[in-house]
Amino acid sequence: MSRQLLSGHKVEQASEEEVKKMEMVPFVRGIVRILPEGWLYSWSATNFLNKIYNMKFRSDDVIVMTFPKCGTTWMQEIVWTMLHNPNLDNPEADESLWLRSHEISMDMHMDIEHFKGKLWHPIMEKFEKMCPGGRIEDGVCLQILEASPGPRVMKCHYPFSLLPPDMLQSAKIDLPQVVYVTRNPKDMMVSFYWFWKESNSFQYRGNFENCIRQLMTGSTLFTPYWPHVKEAWQKRHHSNVHFVFYEDLKADTMLELKKLNDFLGTRLSEEKLEAVAQHTSFSSMSKAGVNQIKKVYGERKSKKTSFFRKGITGDWKNHFSPELQEEVDRWIEKNVSGTDISLRWALWQ
Ligand code: A3P
Repeated sequence: MSRQLLSGHKVEQASEEEVKKMEMVPFVRGIVRILPEGWLYSWSATNFLNKIYNMKFRSDDVIVMTFPKCGTTWMQEIVWTMLHNPNLDNPEADESLWLRSHEISMDMHMDIEHFKGKLWHPIMEKFEKMCPGGRIEDGVCLQILEASPGPRVMKCHYPFSLLPPDMLQSAKIDLPQVVYVTRNPKDMMVSFYWFWKESNSFQYRGNFENCIRQLMTGSTLFTPYWPHVKEAWQKRHHSNVHFVFYEDLKADTMLELKKLNDFLGTRLSEEKLEAVAQHTSFSSMSKAGVNQIKKVYGERKSKKTSFFRKGITGDWKNHFSPELQEEVDRWIEKNVSGTDISLRWALWQ
């Protein structure tokens, strides 16, 4: 049985066999496929996608949009710091990033059996405080976001076509700003493997090669990858969209921070940008992040690998066999051909 979303997408239940092959922790109501692209999300995403399609963004919102494991957390902290902590003296910065910058796509995770219909305790606590009388089934993070003062820095793993169609349709002044971050797919895949493997929530049981093949064939959670990137790539010239490659951010952080400064209109001096770069460096964020993650996800999920693993480019070289590299490179070339997406970062030799 399929059902239609307001975005025009069709929702189809993935078969038990398909879900079993994902080799993850059980999802209470299984996994759905959002067609035509075929994105795979936990069932409860369908409870929220229509609400998200009608979401009212504000002109001072910044949405950090990514396919997972492409540098979301890093960019969230950069944007949050530039907007809310440019002098590095805001005491709120000690709060976990996961409680300062909420995720539009987070509520679907409460369908993971492990959570028993709720999200992590500190998020629930904030929800009860900020949204008295709010119903969990209407979306915990969505309601926290509604009740949050601006400028809101939001994280979103959903692609553009599942978001409001008028989001980028009028004059710049009325619209939210979107920072889209992407990354060499081979590094994204390695990052995914370790994230899932170590995650108490997903408990991935597959081996490395299986994980890479599932990511390539669009047969695991969040996939397929390319339609997500291509939708954003098409919008990259919109004055409210800023496209960033993780590799560029890593290679010349100051140059990318200057571009962000222009895009966000934050007007920070070079000295302040230097301080932001330092504050959001991998070493600073991973040091602070371990405790921040612990506060939100609990002790077992607090391993460094969750969101701060190595923070380098080209780690795929330590993981891929020559055969697997060839297979993935063919997949990349096939998907990039006919587009002007640069193979420079996609293959990253
Ligand atoms: P690795 O697993 O390759 O180390 P996301 O936030 O989208 O889940 O992405 C996680 C990836 O970003 C991880 O990559 C993580 O280490 C990296 N990362 C997080 N903070 C970073 C930072 N400040 N600088 C560089 N990379 C960072």
